[in-house]
Amino acid sequence: MTDSPPRKLIIAIDGPAGAGKSTIASRLARKLAYVNLESGAMYRALALKAIENDISFDDEAALDSLAHNSRIKIEPTLGGNRVTLDSRDVTQRVRETDVSEAASRVSVHPRVRAWMVARQRELGINGGVVMEGRDIGTKVFPDADVKIFLDADPVIREQRRIQQQHSRGASAESMAAELRERDRRDRTRANSPLKAAPDAVVLDSTSLSEDEVLQRVEALVEKKLAEN
Ligand code: DC
Repeated sequence: MTDSPPRKLIIAIDGPAGAGKSTIASRLARKLAYVNLESGAMYRALALKAIENDISFDDEAALDSLAHNSRIKIEPTLGGNRVTLDSRDVTQRVRETDVSEAASRVSVHPRVRAWMVARQRELGINGGVVMEGRDIGTKVFPDADVKIFLDADPVIREQRRIQQQHSRGASAESMAAELRERDRRDRTRANSPLKAAPDAVVLDSTSLSEDEVLQRVEALVEKKLAEN
């Protein structure tokens, strides 16, 4: 009798900006030899295209048509996700503050979300994926094998974001304000608001180190793998 290889899981990591999702998702994916997919990068790429084409963030029909006419790719690399928009590398550009704000605004529209969710399901359906975002456990993969909702005190999240973006020129004050407003919008939108799935494990990283968070997530993954 031969041992079958371990099943490749779908791991969903949701939570607000600055909670540490990206770091944990990429470290976890590396350890498991899984693919790490940042769903937010797809909203960011569409938002960048809207900025470049002067399309209003409130115009759902135009944004939906823009999405259908776009090739947005997220490719995992050792240094993080490489983001391409219509074959152009926009990895760095999509991290800038104007795009963060725009991504949050375009993501309120149901038609935009439907397009994104369909693409994200295609990317993750075969498993072996750590997908991070806002609605992965609630909407994209409601049957994900492991669901984590990673949260942290808002003041700590603001500080982390300010440190991350320190070299990018924006003032601490404006970055904190941007994060607060984005949070408010992401949590209160009518369609798939940011919230923990009822069966998600909520981890508060406020007073945990990155390694401690990772250990807890790994323990959940190991438990799941042992069940299979
Ligand atoms: O994860 P991020 O900060 O790169 O996401 C940018 C914006 O995209 C976020 O403010 C809301 C939106 N988003 C979303 O609505 N659903 C997701 N699964 C991921 C991101």
